Amino acid sequence: MKSLLFALGTALAATLPASAQYTAKEWPEGPMKQRFANTCGGCHDINRLRVGYTPEGWLTVVRMMQNFDTPLPAEEWGPMLDYLIKNFPERARPAAVILDGPAKVNIRIWDVPTQGSRPHDPLAHPRLTVLGVFARIERDSTDEPRVRRRFLARHPKSELYAGFGDFAFWRMQVASAHLNGGFARAADLKAEDVLTDLAGADELIAAEEGAVEHMNTDHAEATRLYAIKLLGEEDGAWRISGLDPDGADLTAGDRTARFAFPQRVASAGALRQMLVELANKARAAS
Ligand code: HEC
Repeated sequence: MKSLLFALGTALAATLPASAQYTAKEWPEGPMKQRFANTCGGCHDINRLRVGYTPEGWLTVVRMMQNFDTPLPAEEWGPMLDYLIKNFPERARPAAVILDGPAKVNIRIWDVPTQGSRPHDPLAHPRLTVLGVFARIERDSTDEPRVRRRFLARHPKSELYAGFGDFAFWRMQVASAHLNGGFARAADLKAEDVLTDLAGADELIAAEEGAVEHMNTDHAEATRLYAIKLLGEEDGAWRISGLDPDGADLTAGDRTARFAFPQRVASAGALRQMLVELANKARAAS
């Protein structure tokens, strides 16, 4: 972990524009310099604003600070805003650092924070950490077309670059996982606890592409009802992006949802029956 942080720190320093390289005592010159140094560190670390903002972003931050009763005379907020916009523009993000070794991936789903929302910290939300090793899926491997199709059905915007020569799919061989559901609600999980068991489901896997297409072409209304009646999602152009023994992945634009089947299905016939039963259930639901 130490070496990762160090590597990121190095990358950060290397990409800073020269104008942003100041220390705490060397704030940029300007009529508001003294006021800034005296006032803006009053409630929090003053260095947090080094990340920089767009002019609109600064306007929002300044309004927030006014709401927090930052002690600044009314007539100085204008010059302060100018000082902040001029000296702390939005900063370029550091380049990615590639490190060798086993991978640890945190998969989290949370509402994208908007400026001013609380809490800011994604770590304050429930999360699942998945540990394992990644292996590249070569273009000419037998798995690649299916992996590509399933991924692009789920992430259609990736079509833009999925054809590039340096684009590749990687499969994570999951070794274990750790669930943190909040205070005193944590559990170590085995790989099989978080993976869908595909044993004996070859027939379903072979039928998946056709079943997805059939549902989206001929039963779009049933899919919409799964989403809004059975899952309580908002109305939208819901479609199925993938099917597996444990359930169905649904998408509507940028929204995604997961429908877990009440019991596992392994054959094409059982899948068809499950989808019909669920459609009847959704229609009956008020
Ligand atoms: C009266 C207390 C107070 C003062 C003084 C103050 N702030 Fe803040 N500031 C806050 C609080 C509270 C937050 C939100 C903290 C959080 O949610 O983590 C915050 C957050 C911020 C953020 C982060 C905003 C975000 O969306 O994450 C920036 C940037 C910031 N302040 C800049 C400033 C500047 C510039 C000044 C001086 C003009 C200033 N602050 C003075 C209370 C203050």
